[in-house]
Amino acid sequence: MTEAERQSALDAIGAEVASCTRCRLHETRTKAVPGEGSAATEVVFVGEGPGVNEDRSGRPFVGQAGTLLTELLGSVGWTREEVFITNVVKCRPPGNRDPEADEIAACAPFLSRQLAALDPALVVTLGRFSMARFNPGARIGQVHGTFQPADPASGAPDSLAFAMYHPAAALHQGQLKTTLFRDMESVPAALLQARERRNSGSSAPQRADIAAQPGPAAATGPAAQASPVEGPADEVSPVATSESAAAAQSIELTPQTDPTDQLTLF
Ligand code: URA
Repeated sequence: MTEAERQSALDAIGAEVASCTRCRLHETRTKAVPGEGSAATEVVFVGEGPGVNEDRSGRPFVGQAGTLLTELLGSVGWTREEVFITNVVKCRPPGNRDPEADEIAACAPFLSRQLAALDPALVVTLGRFSMARFNPGARIGQVHGTFQPADPASGAPDSLAFAMYHPAAALHQGQLKTTLFRDMESVPAALLQARERRNSGSSAPQRADIAAQPGPAAATGPAAQASPVEGPADEVSPVATSESAAAAQSIELTPQTDPTDQLTLF
């Protein structure tokens, strides 16, 4: 798909989301929040659902959690405009309650279609609701900071899924902020792995091979070397080496291009 085709697919999904009545969340929303960012990106960030600020503005992650997300991106030299940011549910659950299973199910086709249009190499999941879609059955305390091939049912069968805590969690639990920034250091290295995996053409078979291995070791690559850190007893996190942290600074996002983008018509 060319970038223009991706954009037009995203615009069409956004228009449908704006007038969607598939679940009860439409009754209390001010604006639906389809998501935003680059149509050519290699990396999609998926949160839980809009909060009060997002509901008012129609844009994802624009409140305090959004400020932290922007800082996290900046810590590896990336910007919001270079990635795509969206949510599992596109309308605000009233009172910021958790989204319910039927609401997530009703909204799931929108995220699947966004992922199909974007075809990201890497999906970064923010929080447990997003993680559950790409890595079902995992526990965030065990897998944050690691990646594994995304569950094909997620709608991103050729992507790696990197798990992070939700930025809003760090607003309530200060020590998670350090964890978030440390985990973020490993995201560019995960992107390198995702690119390599795609270039080697082995994305689909690897999932089966890797998934057969137990625990956090099921993930691969430098970002997935699990080692214990201070914190809750069951918490296991990769520790980015200083080398990978330094390398992280220099991994630039490159827009995905289709060869036909370069064609000139005579
Ligand atoms: N939290 C989310 O999960 N998504 C947003 O867009 C904002 C806050």
